Amino acid sequence: MKSSIPQIVLTGSSGFLGQHLLHSLIHEPLKGTANAALEIHALYGGMEGFPEAVSSMMSNSQVKVHVHQLDLTDSAKVQAWIDQYAAALDICVHSAALSVPRVCEKDPDKARALNVPTTFLEGLAKHNVRIIGLSTDQVYDGTKGNYKEDVDSVNPLNVYGQTKVQLEELVVKLSSSNVLLRSSIILGPKAPFLPEKAHGTFLHFCASRENQETTFFTDECRSVIATDTVVQIIRWFLQKIMLPATNETTKTTAGIFHMGGPDNVSRMDMAKAAFTLWISNRLSSAGGKGQDASPRSEESSGHHHGQWEIAKFDW
Ligand SMILES: NC(=O)c1ccc[n+]([C@@H]2O[C@H](COP(=O)([O-])OP(=O)(O)OC[C@H]3O[C@@H](n4cnc5c(N)ncnc54)[C@H](OP(=O)(O)O)[C@@H]3O)[C@@H](O)[C@H]2O)c1
Repeated sequence: MKSSIPQIVLTGSSGFLGQHLLHSLIHEPLKGTANAALEIHALYGGMEGFPEAVSSMMSNSQVKVHVHQLDLTDSAKVQAWIDQYAAALDICVHSAALSVPRVCEKDPDKARALNVPTTFLEGLAKHNVRIIGLSTDQVYDGTKGNYKEDVDSVNPLNVYGQTKVQLEELVVKLSSSNVLLRSSIILGPKAPFLPEKAHGTFLHFCASRENQETTFFTDECRSVIATDTVVQIIRWFLQKIMLPATNETTKTTAGIFHMGGPDNVSRMDMAKAAFTLWISNRLSSAGGKGQDASPRSEESSGHHHGQWEIAKFDW
């Protein structure tokens, strides 16, 4: 039985994006539903201190959050969780992933098990839970650019991209009402609950490279998107899906969608912008003192070998 209060399950809630989304849902309940209050099941993999960090931010919130530690690759535990909770759920935002491409390359089996959590997603589908899955622009091979969802075929060069294609295929097969959001690289402020434990974005990596020679790709171009924009897009889908279903809302809120910003920039462009912003902020707070933190411009290829990030990117 679905409950009268909308129930959402969010996987990867301790991750960079998951923390931002959870924080937003706690502090600004969704509009457009019969009852503005929500019940959220926030799933995480095992980040120490995460449940405590969430509960410390819950005062005055209308939203009820249940934090569950669940290894999505453990089929027996996942099935037990589904049996206990899935019948009452309405929507899942599936954000959990092994999201660092070079780590996926080293352990493809682990990447597949987590990025395509079949028992979990099939279990939700059996209970008619709509799924919003997070995918990536790395489903494309990058030879053409300016990709369109309805026109261009996927051809991932790396294990991370391959697992996301498998995720997309599964989610689409489970229901034509499901949603997949193929995101470009997401940049924004640190995670709100446990910033020191969740990974930072490329901006934070840049900030950590003061006075160190650093190589950035010039041939990996992305349509950078801000964290808050991604959060607002997911909120938009949640609100639309929770409105009473009509043919029209089903049509406009299902399928595969690209999420990207208006500019096409290389890692080098991003780094230069980050350093410029960071240096100018520091100059103003340091009373105009000069400094010498700037990246060394050097072209790095890797794009053609399926490597999208250099090993030094260890955030
Ligand atoms: N960040 C980007 O620029 C970007 C761009 C495009 C697409 N995406 C996609 O957007 C989603 C969110 O990205 P993100 O940057 O927020 O990822 P992230 O910070 O790496 O978060 C990964 C999440 O997965 C959880 N997790 C890891 N192993 C698990 C396991 N065995 N069982 C259950 N949960 C597990 C982690 O939990 P613990 O920490 O508690 O272990 C964490 O909450 C991902 O699907 C990613 O592929 C991200």
